[in-house]
Amino acid sequence: MNVGISAIGTYLPEKILHNTDLELTLETTDEWIQSRTGIKARHIAAEGEFTSHLAIAAVQNLVNKHGAAALEHVDLVIVATATPDAYFPSTAALVQAHFGLKAAAFDIMVACAGWVYALNVARAQIVAGTSQKVLVIGAETFSKIVNWYDRNTAVLFGDGAGAAILEPVGAGFGFAGFYWGADGNGAKFLHSGALGKRLPSGEPLEPFVVQNGREVFKFATRIMPEAIVQVAKNAGWQLEDIDRIVPHQANARIIEAASERLGLASSKFVVSIERHANNSAATIPLALEHGIEHNLIKQGDKVILVGFGGGLAWSAAALTWSY
Ligand code: UT7
Repeated sequence: MNVGISAIGTYLPEKILHNTDLELTLETTDEWIQSRTGIKARHIAAEGEFTSHLAIAAVQNLVNKHGAAALEHVDLVIVATATPDAYFPSTAALVQAHFGLKAAAFDIMVACAGWVYALNVARAQIVAGTSQKVLVIGAETFSKIVNWYDRNTAVLFGDGAGAAILEPVGAGFGFAGFYWGADGNGAKFLHSGALGKRLPSGEPLEPFVVQNGREVFKFATRIMPEAIVQVAKNAGWQLEDIDRIVPHQANARIIEAASERLGLASSKFVVSIERHANNSAATIPLALEHGIEHNLIKQGDKVILVGFGGGLAWSAAALTWSY
């Protein structure tokens, strides 16, 4: 059975925080942020606006674009998020209730690799016959867990959400391969905890995002090309067959490094980090939507989605675009 993405929708909160705004509160410059990361601005959720609200708005955008029929027969909702509204209920259950769906619902927590992990799980449910149609969302409010006094992390993240429908698609379209993995030994390089929580080493966790940028950069520039090569192999594709790569938007320099390592033109990579920064599990659907809107992705294109981040973890999907 061929399973693919048949609809997509996104949402970015109204408030925009430019690099120049951060110059007022942090020892940083627009020049440093742009040259080191490619980021110009990020969107910030309002007080009282939580991840479920962003997820619901992304689904509403999907419905506005593709019609209400897109949600008919959805029997499973998965939200990939590291910033859920609560420990429980799941953010997915709040989305299910809002749209009145007769569906199972759960969250997946794999930070920046989460959305592609969720796609892999969703596809497997459809192939197994336990679901007909799955709503897969990546939604984050990292602004609520960022330490706004730490210039090493505060400039990097933003809030946002993206939603997709997965269902059976025609022959020759849809997912052709997946590749995923994790290495929890890297937990010390990128984490965020609730007060009172600890790493297995006993080290107390701060209640906000902590990152060893250089170590994560090294990991990211190694794992992204590796995951692209592996997922292409799993799909039976040659690297030359790939039309477009939609990577996690953590740093434009990581994407450039992958393009150089693989010897693939940088024009094959969709880059949208400039306007929305790193939205963790939401960056790949946001970049995918950007690629579709700018005509970079069209029916029949061989597309690779690739995520990496906290865990450490990574995930990639190869699919032939179906609409
Ligand atoms: O989505 C999860 C996955 N995360 C990632 O993939 C992030 C991977 N890491 C990165 O993207 C980069 O390492 C960063 C963007 C986080 C940092 O860039 P870098 O080129 O690796 O900078 P650095 O950490 O080596 O810092 C260089 C200098 C330091 O100053 P000294 O020690 O050389 O005097 C930092 O203190 O830049 C300083 N610095 C800043 N300066 C101005 C760090 N942050 C800032 C800032 N503004 N915001």
